[in-house]
Amino acid sequence: MTDSRSERPSIVPVILAAGQGKRMRSSVPKVLQPLAEAPLLDHVLKAAEALGAAEPVVVIGHGGERVEAHLDGRAVRIAHQAQQLGTGHAVAQALPQIEDDAIVLVLYGDVPLIGSQTLRELAAQASDGALAWLTVHVDDPTGLGRILRDDGGSVVGIVEERDATPAQRGLREVNTGILAMRCAMLKRWVAALDCDNAQGEYYLTDCLAMAVAENVPVRVHRCEDPREVLGINDRRQLAEAERTLNRMRADGLLAQGVTLRDPARLDIRGNVEAGRDVEIDVGVVFKGRVTLGEGCYVGPYSVLSDCAVAAGARVEAHSVVEGAEIGEGCTVGPFARLRPGARLSEGARVGNFVEVKNASVGLGSKVNHLSYIGDATLGAGVNIGAGTITCNYDGANKHHTLIGDRAFIGSNTALVAPVEVGEDATVGAGSVLTRAAPPGELTLARARQTTIQGWQRPVKRKE
Ligand code: UD1
Ligand code: CA
Repeated sequence: MTDSRSERPSIVPVILAAGQGKRMRSSVPKVLQPLAEAPLLDHVLKAAEALGAAEPVVVIGHGGERVEAHLDGRAVRIAHQAQQLGTGHAVAQALPQIEDDAIVLVLYGDVPLIGSQTLRELAAQASDGALAWLTVHVDDPTGLGRILRDDGGSVVGIVEERDATPAQRGLREVNTGILAMRCAMLKRWVAALDCDNAQGEYYLTDCLAMAVAENVPVRVHRCEDPREVLGINDRRQLAEAERTLNRMRADGLLAQGVTLRDPARLDIRGNVEAGRDVEIDVGVVFKGRVTLGEGCYVGPYSVLSDCAVAAGARVEAHSVVEGAEIGEGCTVGPFARLRPGARLSEGARVGNFVEVKNASVGLGSKVNHLSYIGDATLGAGVNIGAGTITCNYDGANKHHTLIGDRAFIGSNTALVAPVEVGEDATVGAGSVLTRAAPPGELTLARARQTTIQGWQRPVKRKE
């Protein structure tokens, strides 16, 4: 399989995902465990995709039906490994689906933080037929395969911890498991593996010594950032990986010119695009796709999902924003809730304990305190008094409220939808509006205040 745009061979990722992940103590297969709200496997698929690689082959086994169902409709091929006989055996199951001249890139469903730049560099090292192997230097190599070098410093093999001598166990250069190699050679090597080792498994790692024996050039590529090759076996490591991922994403924002009051206290579970001079306070959680315009501010402990915040807007502390659009220079919160379909035009203000759903708030309009605005259209320059409610639901259907430009709605008004308030209309506080309030007029829909002259309070009867 050759890439039609260039003469370079295509890169085909093989993603091992057949292991059970016992230590997770979960009924969910390990590679489907969520990391920052996406399954581990999806992170690996994303890295492969960013590389511009060909359709990957995912090797499934334990919990295979669930993994396969998860991958349904996606551009991936599946290989089944009925019994987990080792990493070499797992790779062998995938190779028949891959053309001989392609470069196979072996990845792991439980190593989710691998960066596409690292993979690009690794694959490039295999383009001339060499075996490119990703290693990493760690302080604690426990459980990992050690890289063996001869006296001249050339790599000669990999030894698994359980097969290693005490001296070999002291080595800090370890195998990440990730490698790139022409498919034809790899096919031959994995077919020749034996399971004559401490675990009785077919070790993929033995291919390295085979390459050396055949004088195939071996290029060891050192992964500079050990965080990228963190493997996940239990929930402690899963939590650690999430913190690491958040930190990597926070670093990305810092590099783009975003101010983070504390990069360690920020959760990015989706994708954040931010302009210059954005400031993000502590404890903020981002989900889905969020865009933050130049100079905007997100206050402490706010949760923003799938929303757009335009330049200069402020989302104050403890606000929850989902599926909303916040216009330039708007102020939201503290303690505001914008639900899907909330659209605030430039300069609008939505204050504390205000909920807005499927409603647009026009240019410079204010809903400052304790209100519910649902299924409504508010014009420009509207002022909504504290405690105003759009009664949008009659128990069966939702109805719309329309409020014209510059209308003033007195506090504690109930707008029983469908209902319309005209431009420049004023509605007296405490009104329950069930019919249209005409433009320019004062409408009151409440009991009139009366005073009973000379009224006396009752006095207590004498016994
Ligand atoms: C493997 C490497 C080790 C390396 C370490 C890095 C081998 C022999 N050892 O060890 O050198 O330092 O990874 O984390 O390769 N898998 C399958 N089918 C199998 C066996 C494994 O799909 O039959 C998958 C597992 O789901 C897992 C991955 O391959 O995602 C690694 O397997 P695991 O058994 O955890 O290998 P390690 O012993 O950690
Ligand atoms: Ca492992």
